[in-house]
Amino acid sequence: MSAPNKSYDPVEVASLRPDEVTRMRDEALAAIAAAADLEAFKQVRLAHAGDRSPLALANREIGALPPHAKADAGRRVGAARKQIADALKTRQAELEDERDRRVLVDEAVDVTLPWDRAPRGARHPLTTTAERMADVFISMGFELAEGPEVEAEWFNFDALNFPPGHPARDMQDTLFVESEDSGLVLRTHTSPVQIRALLSRELPVYVVCTGKTFRTDELDATHSPVFHQMEGLVVDEGIGMADLRGAIDAFVTGMFGAGLRTRFRPSYFPFTEPSAEVDMQCFVCRGGSAEPGAPPCRTCKSEGWIELGGCGVVNPRVLTACGVDTDRYSGWAFGLGVDRTLMFRHGVEDMHDMVEGDVRFTLPFGMEI
Ligand code: FA5
Repeated sequence: MSAPNKSYDPVEVASLRPDEVTRMRDEALAAIAAAADLEAFKQVRLAHAGDRSPLALANREIGALPPHAKADAGRRVGAARKQIADALKTRQAELEDERDRRVLVDEAVDVTLPWDRAPRGARHPLTTTAERMADVFISMGFELAEGPEVEAEWFNFDALNFPPGHPARDMQDTLFVESEDSGLVLRTHTSPVQIRALLSRELPVYVVCTGKTFRTDELDATHSPVFHQMEGLVVDEGIGMADLRGAIDAFVTGMFGAGLRTRFRPSYFPFTEPSAEVDMQCFVCRGGSAEPGAPPCRTCKSEGWIELGGCGVVNPRVLTACGVDTDRYSGWAFGLGVDRTLMFRHGVEDMHDMVEGDVRFTLPFGMEI
């Protein structure tokens, strides 16, 4: 601030001269008008309206003036500062408005853009494999049957002719609900659906059922505690093993193409008699890899055959438990592994891939509907 001004003449205080005040004002107004964006505006406001701006400094000089000159200088400086403050307000509103309009344009979301840029989900290959397997039978006139995953022990074991002490009922194989004597299990196979179908439908019965099954198996390359089966059941007049053979052949042709042989190996299930394990000829090497000196086959491990599941003629005890007249009716049933079918059909080498939910595994199957 200047020293006290004893013999005052405002003209002598350079920064308070009217032309100087006008010049400072005009310079400020020009700079405000020229501020192109809010960043530049901030600098302009600091330079022309801040504490160290020319007019703020000039304002301080007024205090050094004698009383009669203060009013005149104060009015001029005050008017100039007000004009600058008004211009700042107007320009700030304009620049904010411009910014808002630019943001609306820059950040606009075009809802008409093609939507397939985001990766689409894919149905799990176990679902599509199970559907494809069932479709082969549906095309032959079979109906879809269903049953619960939490099943009464009676349907899962008793009605299927498992005696009370059968090892499959063991805690080691079966997941019991709450306690071993609750009477409820997580179904260990889809065969209880046979019982539900026979109790709820008119004969003849031609059904398939696909669904989840549960066992206390450890998860490894070929086993899972939660896996999937497809059950098939036919009960009609004059039905026997030859019909079962024909149905399995039709299934193999429908899933893997024509010309592949099937074979039955003797086996045991309490609910079928006779019972068999059913194999199909390997659809990759067509059995050739089992010949001496032939190149190895990864799909069938050079055995020439692939195991599909279990089957047999329905045990008359099962039919009787369901109130079916065994003098008139007979039937066959099978239970095939869906997970294992997916594995060998698509060369999946480890069961972990099917249960871990990694989209890198499922997406390549996404084209299948
Ligand atoms: C049964 O479960 C019988 N209910 C099948 C049946 C039905 C026989 C009707 C006769 C008449 P098995 O325990 O073998 O049979 O299982 C059938 C198929 O389920 C196996 O061939 C296999 O493909 C699949 N499977 C069994 N356990 C597992 C597991 N832990 N993980 C993956 N797949 C399995």
